[in-house]
Amino acid sequence: MTSPSSSDREKVVSKLPPWLRQELKIRTAQLRVDIQDAVSQGINDWTALASTPSPVTTTGAESFSTWLPAGQWDEFRTHARDRGVSLIQGLAQAAQLWLEKNPAPTVQRPSVVRRIVVCNQKGGVGKTAITAGTAEALAEDPSSLYPVRIARQLALLTEDDPALDRENLPGLGMRVLLVDFDPQGHLTKQLGQQPAPIGGDSLTRHMAGEGQGPLQDLIVPIPDDRFGDRLHLLPSCTDAFLLDVRLSTVRAREAALERALAPVESEYDVILVDCPPSLGLSMDAAIYYGRRRPAEEPGASGALIVVQAEDSSADAYDLLTSQINDLRDDLSLDIDYLGLVVNLYDGRRGYIATSSLQAWMDIKDPRVVAVVPDLKEQREAVRLKQPLFVYAPKGDQAVVLRALAREIS
Ligand SMILES: Nc1ncnc2c1ncn2[C@@H]1O[C@H](COP(=O)(O)OP(=O)(O)O)[C@@H](O)[C@H]1O
Ligand SMILES: [Mg+2]
Repeated sequence: MTSPSSSDREKVVSKLPPWLRQELKIRTAQLRVDIQDAVSQGINDWTALASTPSPVTTTGAESFSTWLPAGQWDEFRTHARDRGVSLIQGLAQAAQLWLEKNPAPTVQRPSVVRRIVVCNQKGGVGKTAITAGTAEALAEDPSSLYPVRIARQLALLTEDDPALDRENLPGLGMRVLLVDFDPQGHLTKQLGQQPAPIGGDSLTRHMAGEGQGPLQDLIVPIPDDRFGDRLHLLPSCTDAFLLDVRLSTVRAREAALERALAPVESEYDVILVDCPPSLGLSMDAAIYYGRRRPAEEPGASGALIVVQAEDSSADAYDLLTSQINDLRDDLSLDIDYLGLVVNLYDGRRGYIATSSLQAWMDIKDPRVVAVVPDLKEQREAVRLKQPLFVYAPKGDQAVVLRALAREIS
């Protein structure tokens, strides 16, 4: 982003303290402006000031180069001399002035909590991995930069060289709740947490209308600096194996998950539900939870379907979409698809992989929103019971999942 935007700019080499350069880098990324434009604006504003601002600490200043409109640096040099300020001090003041005039944007929070239901009744396709990774990407610190894969064309998503198109972008800063809705509790365990003890309070009990205490008390934070206190988990409980049976006697059972989660919704911007590999009543409740609410924009909430580039995935997909479509028709609901995620992709597997990926892309509605490669860092993170974004924050997997989180935002 520091290349000259037009030929009438000249390269300027000076010095800036590392902290100031870092702040400039982050703030310009947050506001999506070029560093050279920010510096140029800062210098203009600094020269226009009626008096010199207070000094900025420049200890440890390191080489810093940028491109400025022709003549601006010479003019700045004259002003600095007139004010009796060194060039390095003047530049630091100009940068500081720009930062003060261009504060960090506040995170835009959805007015209705977004509900993302990650589903496919086929086991082992990566629902849990995609749910956790998307949640982690949504919760990252908005005042830090993280590498995100930029692919402007879907075709690029399958290219093998992700280093080509990475961009450092600020975290999304959402307050996120992960709901482990699979009785097997993989999500809970993979994040190093404990399932709720059997016999105690649980999401299942709340859904059956027999909650013992506030649902809030079951929720645990997933600690890490990058998530602040924004990433939380509602752990599974083995009693969820009986959920379909319990639900069969519950009034308006399709709304059971919605009723259970209602008391905590206001604490979050996004709630992701990691669904079980089944098509029972609990799945109906999850899909119902993801339906479009009045006053909600289309595509803000809905079903995110994880598939693999292999033939058996297609049959499972047909079954799932017919369940979703039936629910849509029977209850007259608006249920949006947030997209298809083709997971565990490995183009080296040849024709089966590439042709089934093409078949997913040809569906178009819902469209493929990410192609996630089969990479060992995902399995290693699971083995170590660490969030992927803590274990391998700069790995290709995290880089692709960040792009996914932005694609569906
Ligand atoms: N993109 C990926 N690359 C490598 N391993 C993956 C990837 N996605 C998932 N896995 C691994 O595959 C296994 C099944 O994934 P999981 O998310 O548990 O599937 P599901 O929830 O659909 O049953 C897990 O061991 C997981 O770590
Ligand atoms: Mg799972």
